[in-house]
Amino acid sequence: MPAPTAALDAALDVLVCPLCRQALEAVDGGARCAARHHFDLARQGYLSLRGGAATASGDTAAMVEARERVQASGAHDAIAEAVVAAVPEGAHWLVDLGGGTGWHASRVLEARQGLRAIVLDASVPAVRRAARAHERLAAVANDVRAGIPVADGSVDVVLRVFAPGGGEQGVSELRRALAPGGRVVVVVPEPQHQHELVAALGLLQVPAGKAEEAAASIPGAVHRATTTVTRAIEASRALAADLVMMGPNAFHRERGDVEAALSALPEPIAVSIAVSVVELELPAVEQGSRTP
Ligand SMILES: C[S@@+](CC[C@H](N)C(=O)[O-])C[C@H]1O[C@@H](n2cnc3c(N)ncnc32)[C@H](O)[C@@H]1O
Ligand SMILES: [Zn+2]
Repeated sequence: MPAPTAALDAALDVLVCPLCRQALEAVDGGARCAARHHFDLARQGYLSLRGGAATASGDTAAMVEARERVQASGAHDAIAEAVVAAVPEGAHWLVDLGGGTGWHASRVLEARQGLRAIVLDASVPAVRRAARAHERLAAVANDVRAGIPVADGSVDVVLRVFAPGGGEQGVSELRRALAPGGRVVVVVPEPQHQHELVAALGLLQVPAGKAEEAAASIPGAVHRATTTVTRAIEASRALAADLVMMGPNAFHRERGDVEAALSALPEPIAVSIAVSVVELELPAVEQGSRTP
C-alpha cells in the first residue's frame, strides 16, 4: 500500500470528502470520511478525490510534457514571478485550481516558507508530476467544476493560472473555501499572447476582456490589482510547437501539422507573452456577521 507523503498528510487537515463534505482521515491505501466514502492514494503519491458526476480528464500526457518543456525553458518565468508577488506573506494554505504539474505552486512555496499548497487537477499525468514537485505540495486528482474539496474557510489563497473556473458554482465555492480576507489570483491570457503563432498557424484567438471579467468575477470582492506581464521571447521551432500544443489548440490540431507549418518559418521565431495577473480579496468580515 502506498503511504501518503508528508504534504498529503498535512493536507488532510484541509481536504474534505467531495461527496458529503465531511473531514477525511488517512486509511490504508487512501483516505476516508465518516460516511465511509473511500478515495485512493495512487502509487505515484497523489490522492484521487473524484466524486459525483464529474468526468473531466484534463490535459493529456503530451500536453503536460509540452508545458513542462515551456516552463523549463524560462519562457514563463516572468508570469511565475508575478504570481509569487501576488501571494501575501503569512498565508498558510494555498489551493491551485487546475494547477497542472505544480510548477507555479512550487515557485510560490519556494518564496513563502510558512505556506503549504494543494494542486487540484483533473489530469492524471499532471498530478503524478505535482505529487513530487515540492515537499510542501499535495497533489489531488479532482474536477474543479464539481466543487473545491476543502473545508469551509480553510484556505488563504486560491490560484487559477490559465485554468478553467467553475462558473457561478465556482464563485460560491471560492467564497466557501476561502477564509475571510482570502485572496484569489487569476492569470489569463491577453489577445496579444502568442499572437505571432496565432497568425502564422491560424490558431484559436484569445478574446479581449478576460482580465476585466476575472476582476469582476466575485461580487463583493475587492479588486486589488491587475498586473499585465509582457515579454518577447525568441523560440526555436520545437519550443514554438510546445507553446501551441501545451494549450487548448492541442484538442484541435495534430503536432505533426503544427511542426510542418512551423518549418516554413525562419528560426528563432519571435513570440509575445502577454498575460494579466488579477488579484482579488474577499471582505475581512463575512457580510451579515458584523454586529451593529
Ligand atoms: C492550461 S493548463 C494550466 C496548468 C497550470 N495552471 C500551469 O499554468 O502550469 C490547464 C490545466 O487545467 C486542468 N483542467 C482542465 N479542466 C479541469 C477541470 N475541470 N478540473 C480540474 N482541472 C482541470 C488541465 O488538466 C490542465 O492541467
Ligand atoms: Zn463522504
